[in-house]
Amino acid sequence: MTNPKLTIRRPDDWHVHLRDGAMLQAVAPYTARQFTRAIVMPNLSPPVTTIDAARAYRSRIEAAAGPGFTPLMVAYLTDGIDGATLAEGHAAGVFTAAKLYPAHATTGSAHGVTDVKHIHSALAAMEQAGMPLLVHGEVTDPEIDVFDREAVFIERIMAGLVRDFPGLKIVFEHITTEEAAQFVLAAPENVAATITPQHLHINRNAMLVGGIRPHAYCLPVAKREKHRQALRKAATSGSAKFFLGTDSAPHRIETKEAACGCAGIFNAPFALESYAAVFEEEGALEHFEAFASENGPRFYGLPLNEGTVTLERADHTVPDSCEAVDIVLVPFHAGETLRWRIAS
Ligand code: DOR
Ligand code: ZN
Repeated sequence: MTNPKLTIRRPDDWHVHLRDGAMLQAVAPYTARQFTRAIVMPNLSPPVTTIDAARAYRSRIEAAAGPGFTPLMVAYLTDGIDGATLAEGHAAGVFTAAKLYPAHATTGSAHGVTDVKHIHSALAAMEQAGMPLLVHGEVTDPEIDVFDREAVFIERIMAGLVRDFPGLKIVFEHITTEEAAQFVLAAPENVAATITPQHLHINRNAMLVGGIRPHAYCLPVAKREKHRQALRKAATSGSAKFFLGTDSAPHRIETKEAACGCAGIFNAPFALESYAAVFEEEGALEHFEAFASENGPRFYGLPLNEGTVTLERADHTVPDSCEAVDIVLVPFHAGETLRWRIAS
């Protein structure tokens, strides 16, 4: 008896943090092993705001990842960003998209946008250029409970963006709530969403029951179980509006296991296997290939990848840590058994 196998077109990761320097060297090979392309987040320090900076960062990623992997670069939107620069970078094949971080919403967002009205002309230029807007959808209002920040963002910001820029492609990144899944489904064709493996696997109990578990902490934070169920339904539904974006966000173990630990889950080593488990559990393996390999490129207007990857059903245990020189990272699912693994 041979193990059941699942062969799909080679997938892409439409949301990843690859960092820079030694961390980039440590993590890029994991993403390149699983994915042909990746949308690389620009929240470096300093953030990627110019065409030159994006070109230089792209070269460093290519060197770290090796051949066969294409990083897709993203401009970091600031209050003062110039729409002409965005359009020029997009036309030059440097900026695939641009990312809206509300200022102080998350890691590396200090230079983000303080009010979306400051970027209205930049968004108009992007709409004109056919350049997607990627959105971290959380309000930063201290009055709003952290578990409600995504739902309130929809009312206060996202609905207006969709209304005011009807031709702008918008990706609601790493959605975590039933409200976001419903909003995206009801929105026009130009609005889509990425979904991470962690938000399909864990709810907030994973972070808070039996002790504080920093490796289950990311932003937007995992919500209650009904939201996880809504995300699983959306991801596995076959709707072309939802696609794979891991939000793999590595932080050194000592900065995760700290009095004020960093937000981010490092899921790059077994991301595809993690998603496959969800699709199998939901009885929806027939929709896995579209989610992983078709919906994303179609939304971005990019060609589908050539070639395939094969997963096989074979239990394996995720290691407790991934180490590179002096960096120790704890991967998502550490110590757990996954049922699928990449065969070749
Ligand atoms: O958990 C997160 N980590 N969410 C983000 O939005 C940023 C990311 C990071 O860069 O560490
Ligand atoms: Zn992210």
